[in-house]
Amino acid sequence: MSTSYKDLGLVNTKEMFAKAIAGKYAVPAYNFNNLEQLQAIVQACVESKSPVILQVSSGARKYANANLLRNMAKGAVEFAKELGCEIPIALHLDHGDTFELCKDCVDSGFSSVMIDGSHHSYEENIALTKKVVEYAHAHGVTVEGELGVLAGVEDDVVAEHSTYTKPEEVVDFVKRTGVDSLAISIGTSHGANKFTPAQCTRNENGVLIPPPLRFDILEEIEKQLPGFPIVLHGSSSVPQEEVETINKYGGALKDSVGIPEEQLRKAAQSAVCKINIDSDGRLAMTAAIRKVFAEKPGEFDPRKYLGPARDALKELYKHKNENVLGSAGKA
Ligand code: G3H
Ligand code: 13P
Ligand code: ZN
Repeated sequence: MSTSYKDLGLVNTKEMFAKAIAGKYAVPAYNFNNLEQLQAIVQACVESKSPVILQVSSGARKYANANLLRNMAKGAVEFAKELGCEIPIALHLDHGDTFELCKDCVDSGFSSVMIDGSHHSYEENIALTKKVVEYAHAHGVTVEGELGVLAGVEDDVVAEHSTYTKPEEVVDFVKRTGVDSLAISIGTSHGANKFTPAQCTRNENGVLIPPPLRFDILEEIEKQLPGFPIVLHGSSSVPQEEVETINKYGGALKDSVGIPEEQLRKAAQSAVCKINIDSDGRLAMTAAIRKVFAEKPGEFDPRKYLGPARDALKELYKHKNENVLGSAGKA
């Protein structure tokens, strides 16, 4: 039996994005896999009165159980109300790679899905995306497509540079697929190691400064698709204080460089109306847990280390909403 997202109290991304473009801010899309991450997202977004997109990857579905996750999202809507603010909440499939996965999510209560056909040929990407759009739209579910490929942590510089989104393709892609939003590639990438030190310069404090995002490509895309919602993946900033805390308490993170928040602030004021952040949350959680383990080695109650991790996550998300994406106060 299928479940509509409306029965779970969720919304799709249509109105969220229209408001974000008009208001020159971006809606946060935070990934979650477990209870503490979800609690932190909801608390932070209620406290900062921000709309939010709860993001679930196929890995998260395998890890946490799809049915459980769907009911957690329903619980998130009720939790937000209980906290005193009815913020718009979307449940979104992150990086769906097949029609069947997207269909399953539509049928099980997701209000938005991403079909990531960016690793296919252009024509195959269009055919797959169009098929997902037809099914999703029949159920009121919004769809994010992707053009251009983001590098993963292990990919090399040359591959990353050769797969920026081509502005001359975007109009044709959007028209032929019917997508509601488009993820683009302008120099962000997934994970905590977005740039190699060789790609960066060092400032006077020895901090690695990455090359700027390709705002020229973004501007060209905006010219081609005026007012159309654009999505930025791979937008963690990899705060150096989190990396230092992790390494201080026994971690071994090397050459971890992210996207400077200044650049995300600039992007959020453009047609970019959804910004995806996962790795920063992973770092904040890991730093907090490592600190408890190092300082209180006798501690073995999970609430005593997951609780501080949840608090750190909440502060991180509030900071993003208030100081980077500009979504605070927009719910
Ligand atoms: O872009 C990918 C997200 O960070 C999700 O990562 O597939 O490990 O859950 P995951
Ligand atoms: P980060 O790895 O930069 O957090 O990106 C997350 C993302 O794009 C999820 O789709
Ligand atoms: Zn992504």
